[in-house]
Amino acid sequence: MHPSSAFQLVFGTSSIKMAFGRLSAIVSIALAATQVANGAVTKRVTCATGHVTVNAACCKLFPIVDQIQRDLFDGGECGEEAHSALRLTFHDAIGFSIHGGKGGGADGSILVFNATELQFHANGGIDDITSRQFPVFQETGLTPGDFVHLAGAIGTANCPGAPRLKFMFGRPPPVAPAPDLTIPEPTDSVTAILARFADAGFSPREAVALLSSHTIAAADVVDVTIPGTPFDSTVGTFDTQVFLEVLLKGKLFPGNGSQPGEVLSPLAGEMRLQSDFVISQDRRTACFWQAMVNDQERMVTEFRDAMAKLQVLGQKNLIDCSDVVPVPKAFKGPIKFPATFSRKDVQVACPELPFPNLATVAGPAPTVPPVPGS
Ligand code: HEM
Ligand SMILES: *[C@@H]1O[C@H](CO)[C@@H](O)[C@H](O)[C@H]1NC(C)=O
Ligand SMILES: *[C@@H]1O[C@H](CO)[C@@H](O)[C@H](O)[C@H]1NC(C)=O
Repeated sequence: MHPSSAFQLVFGTSSIKMAFGRLSAIVSIALAATQVANGAVTKRVTCATGHVTVNAACCKLFPIVDQIQRDLFDGGECGEEAHSALRLTFHDAIGFSIHGGKGGGADGSILVFNATELQFHANGGIDDITSRQFPVFQETGLTPGDFVHLAGAIGTANCPGAPRLKFMFGRPPPVAPAPDLTIPEPTDSVTAILARFADAGFSPREAVALLSSHTIAAADVVDVTIPGTPFDSTVGTFDTQVFLEVLLKGKLFPGNGSQPGEVLSPLAGEMRLQSDFVISQDRRTACFWQAMVNDQERMVTEFRDAMAKLQVLGQKNLIDCSDVVPVPKAFKGPIKFPATFSRKDVQVACPELPFPNLATVAGPAPTVPPVPGS
């Protein structure tokens, strides 16, 4: 039965005069009918811990979520570990091809075959988070793949504005390390980056959506003299600020001069990745990039959907345990130009789309502080 016919059934003409008390009973009947109409009545299980989930198999994850928050994320912070736990999900999962012949995808191989995968040039700096995760991974008893992808979802949820990522449970242990040269580098061309994403099953639009992650990101190794240098001025918030700031004309290098993989940055203390910049300017991606600016809803929806694909690459028969993932705090926009910047500083590369009207933060141009603990 279609939900609207269920609605007509209970809200016939005679029901218009009905008393308020009866209305709530009828609304719950309508909701139940809607669930039947959607295919399956969603069963709910109350775990021994009091948490509610759709599948009893997810119950054991609630205490593990608390443990990961305590032992890995300093009690639930959107800090260095949360940022790098998200990066790790990408570097683990992208070692995969829809044509076969690469790695096992979102399998946690980066954690247990670290002796191999951490040698890859693109994994520079990743050893910090794998060595931080390793003892916590062992405490939880999860498989490496479930651990890496649950930790990524939890760490992301600690950042205000982030979507609540899905978590699919039940990955088997990885069988082999991923091969080298599957992870895009900031020195790569747009063509090479889009080809690699396409090989893993992602469109140019999905690639841009995944780069929303760089709103909670900083670089340690692009310029080793300035660890923890953020990609936007609001590195602790999952907002669209990075899509704006990558479009701002560059004037300086934040550290020891020009390094491979960076271009001139608009702000002191901020790094503008070459790959983000060229993707923001390329005909194939510029309009997807610009459309994200100040559109929190679009960014969150597209990032959540692309992450849901990324985090199950190469996996099958998983159980949906998304309701163990903490609910992120909301971010109330709009975003603003950093102080002293305005529309005249934007390198518009999608002229057919109107550029949003944004206010400018008051005061002198900021120096973006590094992420603590980097
Ligand atoms: C074109 C593709 C990409 C390139 C070239 C790229 C490149 C980089 C580079 C160079 C860094 C800084 C590393 C360092 O110096 O420490 C970085 C950081 C980061 N990346 Fe990406 N990235 C890409 C896509 C992604 C995707 C798809 C995700 C997640 C879905 C992601 C998440 C992150 C995060 C969260 C950080 C910050 C880590 C931290 O602050 O500790 N990146 N990325
Ligand atoms: C690599 O894996 C070993 C276990 O095989 C673990 O003890 C170690 O902490 C890991 N190191 C890094 C840098 O991830
Ligand atoms: C800074 O860059 C110069 C080359 O441009 C290099 O010789 C020097 O070693 C770098 N300094 C540090 C501390 O890395």
